[in-house]
Amino acid sequence: MNLDDTKNAVATAPDYVLAIAPYQAGKPIEELAREFKLDPANIVKLASNENPLGLPESARRAIADVISGLGRYPDPNGFDLKAALSARYGVPADWITLGNGSNDLLELASLALLAPGAAAVYSQHAFAVYRLATQARGARHIVVPAHDYGHDLDRMYDAIDNDTRLVFIANPNNPTGTFLPAGQIEAFLARVHDRWGGKVTVLLDEAYNEYLDPEFRFDSARWVEQYSNLIVSRTFSKAYGLAGLRVGFAMAQPKLTDVLNRVRQPFNVNSLAQVAAIAALGDAAFLQQSYELNKTGKQTLIDGFTRLGLEFVPSYGNFVLVRVGDAASVNLELLKKGVIVRPVAGDGLPEWLRVSIGLPEENARFLDALTATLGSS
Ligand SMILES: Cc1ncc(COP(=O)(O)O)c(C=O)c1O
Repeated sequence: MNLDDTKNAVATAPDYVLAIAPYQAGKPIEELAREFKLDPANIVKLASNENPLGLPESARRAIADVISGLGRYPDPNGFDLKAALSARYGVPADWITLGNGSNDLLELASLALLAPGAAAVYSQHAFAVYRLATQARGARHIVVPAHDYGHDLDRMYDAIDNDTRLVFIANPNNPTGTFLPAGQIEAFLARVHDRWGGKVTVLLDEAYNEYLDPEFRFDSARWVEQYSNLIVSRTFSKAYGLAGLRVGFAMAQPKLTDVLNRVRQPFNVNSLAQVAAIAALGDAAFLQQSYELNKTGKQTLIDGFTRLGLEFVPSYGNFVLVRVGDAASVNLELLKKGVIVRPVAGDGLPEWLRVSIGLPEENARFLDALTATLGSS
């Protein structure tokens, strides 16, 4: 392709695609090592809400068993994984859609339900992919101001208009870590269903569900039975420790599931991810360990922030949002010290940093680096 062809190719993309501001992912360890001439082994990455325990051993063994079969395509319908999910959540297998990460499911819902002329409702400071997926479809954004950094469901309900086809809710939310109790979600679902029926789909994104304390957990699969306009998405990237494999799933009634599958790539979830997810789903000990490590680590970070007199948002996920003032400068100083966290200016939070909860030694490294940075500024 010569340069003129490139120009023409760009010129043919719709304006709404050209207007997309790409997703800012956490900086990879190797990139920081190159940039600042650091030893990758000494770099701490707390920037992408990954599980600091890494891949569960059960998943590693499951992967090893199927490597020799990788010359073949994966099961396009993920029969075994859907059967395992069906047994776990008590919904029929044909209510489940598998995704290449739960990100894929957010995009499938947008692809299936949005178009130019349609609109999506989501909250200020909500997960960035809602904006991207809406923008990529040329749909209108209805961004509802946050309340205490979290979703304001009353205002979100009021914001739904005749063009609205999709409402995104992240619970807990990323990057703020805020949480909506079951009663509030349930009341919202009932109101939207009563007023708009199947015209407006609600996508309840529960990527961090497994990190909730038991008293906050609720069985959202039961809402899927009740509400024909609801999609619940979950992921294996966080508490299950499979972020690099890319696997998530959605639960919805068959008509909605059918629509999602019409726009799904046939082989969107690879063979390694499918077997690893089945193994991880059955690994209750790993899940519990992940939950407990996160709870302790969260307290360590909160204690550290309190000592430093920093404001933070109480978090229900595996990360904490902390207000450091000039976040860009603080972030740069942390990077120079080999600590990667996530600046969130792109989410409308220029004074804040989001820190994923790591292993005890990683949390300590981060707090030491932060203390040194703030002390010298
Ligand atoms: C709220 C929320 N939803 C969905 C995702 C997507 O994760 P994945 O595609 O790895 O499942 C993330 C990832 O950070 C998230 O924070």
